[in-house]
Amino acid sequence: MKNHIEIKNIIKPFKRKIEVSSDKSISIRCVLLASQAIGKSKLYNLLESEDVINSLNSIRKLGINVKKKKKYYEIFGYGINGYKSKNNLTIDAGNSGTLARLIMGLLVNTEKKIKIIGDKSLSKRDFSRIINPLKLFGTNIISKGNLPVTIKGTKFLRPIKYIERLGSAQCKSAVMLAAIKTPGKTFIKAKKSRNHTELIFKYIKIPMKIFKTNQYDYIEVNGPSNFNGFKYKIPGDISSSSFFIVLALLSSKSEITIRNVNVNDSRLGIIKILNKMNAKIILNNKKIYNGEKIADIIVKSNKNLKGFNCPKNLNSSAIDEFLVIFLVAAKAKGISTFKNLSELNKKESPRLEIATNILKKIGVKYTRYSDNIKIYGNPNLKIKGKYKINNFRKDHRVFMMSCIAALTFGGEWRVEDKDSIKTSFPTFIELLKKLGAEII
Ligand code: S3P
Repeated sequence: MKNHIEIKNIIKPFKRKIEVSSDKSISIRCVLLASQAIGKSKLYNLLESEDVINSLNSIRKLGINVKKKKKYYEIFGYGINGYKSKNNLTIDAGNSGTLARLIMGLLVNTEKKIKIIGDKSLSKRDFSRIINPLKLFGTNIISKGNLPVTIKGTKFLRPIKYIERLGSAQCKSAVMLAAIKTPGKTFIKAKKSRNHTELIFKYIKIPMKIFKTNQYDYIEVNGPSNFNGFKYKIPGDISSSSFFIVLALLSSKSEITIRNVNVNDSRLGIIKILNKMNAKIILNNKKIYNGEKIADIIVKSNKNLKGFNCPKNLNSSAIDEFLVIFLVAAKAKGISTFKNLSELNKKESPRLEIATNILKKIGVKYTRYSDNIKIYGNPNLKIKGKYKINNFRKDHRVFMMSCIAALTFGGEWRVEDKDSIKTSFPTFIELLKKLGAEII
């Protein structure tokens, strides 16, 4: 089967209401926490993507029973000490940094050695950021700083004091998960990042205190702490929505409503940035569900976008969306600047490198100095050439960004590795076609 797509025409005007895939971060957290609960959990609307399937398979390997019912996944846990470790167990996290790093937090007390592996892309990513704090709990970890990582837990966990300086929700969450198992108070000072773990902890009543300042959150988890099985309905993913937000914004005479999306403030960077660029995106039907904010996102075409000097305190809340934000900056009037984006190069592929290569290919003017980028926008930018995107690290977001560029900028595109969307948004192409996109 061919694993590339071709796009030769920009999308025609559309007006539609859609729903996107469920949130990946929340799905993985729900699976992992349900696997450590006492009794049955029911997860509705769980994202059925490779990252989440790998999460389900990982907990199955640890002796947890997972059943797929008609409307939900049922996971039966045996409490925080309930994993059954076997000799020489290998857990394959596939492409998922969230799964690999968070599950390490839950393995700090495993009796037997467990090896964690991942695909080519994940194996190149940094794990020292999580190995160092987890070792402080007393856990034995063998690794050269990347995958594979071999972890052997300890019976004598000790609480830690940890400062998370990267703005990484994965690091913060892994330490919080380890802290549930650890007697005493674990203190975390964490640079702002998505707070889904904190909100689920609160919902399932894990003892925790939080104190917030502008830059840092101070979290205290008091363990050990068992908790009961829970019900959760996972909302739509704002990161998956971002491709459709930008598609509507940059197409002519179009409008889209994306229903039931998680609009947690710690994920809202894209809306804040685009609205500063004059996008006029509206959040409608706002509600709160299990501590998470949900809303419908309404976006209309806009020909009056303007450049924006993005403050770095918005970086973490837009970290997975910069690729498409750059496309908007390319079509806005004036200059946009984005600073301190080193974390963008630590993702499934070095995304700042890749994005600048794509912008260069299609003739967008920019200057890049270290991890800062300045994009000189041009609202009249129309492109005509032939473009081939190799997507050499099989990065789902690079694939999707390229499709949106093809459907809004023009030219003839061939984008490799369609299968990469299975990681986070398996129905992406299907949904684009429903809006009228011509994709071969
Ligand atoms: C995630 C956190 C972010 C994000 C990733 C998902 C999470 O990574 O880029 O896609 O679910 O916690 P970092 O924690 O490395 O910033």
